[in-house]
Amino acid sequence: MTPHSRQRVSITNSATAVAHANIALVKYWGKRTEALNLPAVGSISLTLDALKTETTVSFDGALQKDSLVLNGKPASEASLKRVSDFLNHIGGINRSSASIVSTNNFPTAAGLASSASGFAALALSATSALNLDLEDVELSKLARIGSGSAARSIYGGFVEMKCGNTDDGNGDYAISLFEQDYWDVRMLIAITSSDEKTIGSTEGMNRTANTSPFYSAWVQSQAADLDEMRLALKAKDFQKVGELTEHSCFKMHGLALSARPPLLYWNAATTETYQIIKELRTSGIPAYVTMDAGPQVKIFCLPEAQLPIRQALKTVKGIKSILECRPGPAVALKTLENV
Ligand code: DP6
Repeated sequence: MTPHSRQRVSITNSATAVAHANIALVKYWGKRTEALNLPAVGSISLTLDALKTETTVSFDGALQKDSLVLNGKPASEASLKRVSDFLNHIGGINRSSASIVSTNNFPTAAGLASSASGFAALALSATSALNLDLEDVELSKLARIGSGSAARSIYGGFVEMKCGNTDDGNGDYAISLFEQDYWDVRMLIAITSSDEKTIGSTEGMNRTANTSPFYSAWVQSQAADLDEMRLALKAKDFQKVGELTEHSCFKMHGLALSARPPLLYWNAATTETYQIIKELRTSGIPAYVTMDAGPQVKIFCLPEAQLPIRQALKTVKGIKSILECRPGPAVALKTLENV
């Protein structure tokens, strides 16, 4: 447990936590097994300061059943079941029912990693409400059960998710590589759609694993990408980190496109944005793109490149807005002192 990142409070049955989303620089795509949501590959991410989820969990013996309010509205039955199953995993099936209230400050389920910040915030708020005090690694394993990428949102800055090789998931957790203040980089997020995605990551990765002829090559080539990325981050080699980030992104999307039926997460503005970033690079402005299971384009750059990038992207009609993110902090409890 990093003492500065979380503060202990004496709560009996209710707690609020804030977690930040993360963007993978080396992508996770594919599961070893679904039972404990064990990844088929490791991954490396950057936690983002501007995308956050705040979640309050209150266990209450007087409640008849669980309820989930997401962004001010009752959540779908499917979302409620996913959250209830997760709470059963923590508190057992005989636990008290819970009221869960969760708010994102960004579009939910449009490829902006809401499940990452969502399950990281839920893992900390729920364990804290039950007076469980978990080490970061244990909290990361728990968050992973909710969503693989959530295991990384336990930490701030640059984070690595380890891929274990046992069925109990003991080797499948994230660790901090470099903390939030290590490197002043930016991730600009070009929002090209706020619609919910049609095929979620879980379904997408399972379809890919079951049908793509390239899946085993993807799994087998991941270790080399992770090794290279660790070294590039250590050297703060911006160009190398950017090139590896794009490589992993396009490898993942090429893989997804080779599924049957194919998975195409992009729209016209996604590809137009990529072309412009590539042209900018040729003209001497260093910037690199990455995309997840949705059409938003995340642009990795240094602070001084922001203005020319924003200027160049003005011609892309499909971009609705651009969010600026810096490296973000670890998950934390919300207490009276930090409200
Ligand atoms: C493309 O973590 O959402 O964003 O474990 O099934 O919940 P589940 O998947 P999820 O997948 C994230 C996939 C990705 C790449 C990444 O974040 O590494």
